[in-house]
Amino acid sequence: MKKNITWHDHSINKIHRSVQKSQKSCLLWLTGLSGSGKSTVAGALDELLFQRGYHSYLLDGDNVRYGLNKDLGLSDDDRRENIRRIGEMSRLFVDAGLITICAFISPFIEERKRVRSLLEQNEFIEVFISTPLDVCEERDPKGLYKKARKGQIKNFTGIDGIYEPPIDPEIEVDTTSMDPAACAELIFETLWKRRLIMDNRVSKVQVVGGEK
Ligand code: ADX
Repeated sequence: MKKNITWHDHSINKIHRSVQKSQKSCLLWLTGLSGSGKSTVAGALDELLFQRGYHSYLLDGDNVRYGLNKDLGLSDDDRRENIRRIGEMSRLFVDAGLITICAFISPFIEERKRVRSLLEQNEFIEVFISTPLDVCEERDPKGLYKKARKGQIKNFTGIDGIYEPPIDPEIEVDTTSMDPAACAELIFETLWKRRLIMDNRVSKVQVVGGEK
């Protein structure tokens, strides 16, 4: 209990909000190295869910660092705080009845475990984007590995920064051998098997190129 602060249970809760959307809200947590394909797979999944009429929302590492977490850097302590805030925010999104997709390096097992503990059983689905370091480095979409190798970026994940891979993730995909759309389908199928999504729908809103 916090001093002089009292929790208030509001009348409309997560179950009402999920049922209204005919889905079960959950948190899909994509973790992996920079360049592993997290954002691309997350985007493909978000699009697939949208087109099939589900209500989802995507929170992406770089984007969140432009706003809510713009005061944070990439030290280990700042990364912990980054994930703590995202975890709390994700819990609110799940509470709002949404299929929430998070794409963050989130290098520490302990922090990912902490996020899992904020949610109910079966609500947190860890998706390990296990694309190996040499492939990520070869892709180097932002030129950051090159800079890290030259010593221009310190504590770069996978080079001189820690990455602790998940031990027992619910889903693992390697984007070396699967394209983003296939990865998204595989994740969708897992949601189906876990009965987090239960029906086939057609969205009334069509995604037209660029106008999402
Ligand atoms: S996390 O470690 O705190 O989870 P997050 O996913 O939010 O990281 O942000 C990672 C993004 O920051 C990368 O995609 C990359 O573009 C950028 N970045 C900048 N510096 C680093 C670094 N030292 N290590 C890894 N990524 C970095």
